[in-house]
Amino acid sequence: MRRLSFVLLPAALIAALIGGYFLWHLSDNLPGLGRTVETGTARVGGPFTLIDQNGARRSSADFRGRYMLIYFGYSSCPDVCPTTLSLMADALDKLGPRAEKIVPLFITIDPERDTPAKLKPYVASFGPRFIGLTADLATIKKVAGLYGVYLKKEPLEGGNYAMDHTSVIYLMGPDGKFVGYWDDSAIGPDKLAAELRKVT
Ligand code: NI
Repeated sequence: MRRLSFVLLPAALIAALIGGYFLWHLSDNLPGLGRTVETGTARVGGPFTLIDQNGARRSSADFRGRYMLIYFGYSSCPDVCPTTLSLMADALDKLGPRAEKIVPLFITIDPERDTPAKLKPYVASFGPRFIGLTADLATIKKVAGLYGVYLKKEPLEGGNYAMDHTSVIYLMGPDGKFVGYWDDSAIGPDKLAAELRKVT
């Protein structure tokens, strides 16, 4: 999946005007144009109703009027998930009061283990802003599919398992529509905060 860098967007737009081929390829990832992932067939995002870390039903419509910063992962993830959630938390801290209009959502792709009770302390460890979301496996797979998120159970020795999954931070607008995404946690909190400041 190509990463949409907000810094590069103006350049991409200009290039798109020059080259039809370039436009054909990139327009899918530009806000307001195609908003599709890689294959050019799937739109990013869509309505969902899940259960939060307190056991309450939360639907995507509940967040209208605010941006959703969404990450799919699982609480048993040893490395990428905690790194990315820390990145999101640090970036939001750097935004100051502006962060109030951005809701960070952690949607588990491992609902068999990530019950609301398990998600509660996990998301709290990244700060009070985070909302952890789970559901039954079929619902999670459907929502992950809406975002083009791949997930696969990888058995480990001893009967345990890990989850192989896409690691992408999505930003959805106050209208619930796709704004952009980052797929490299090496972006760092300063740069993520700067890009969020530009587009929110
Ligand atoms: Ni992970």
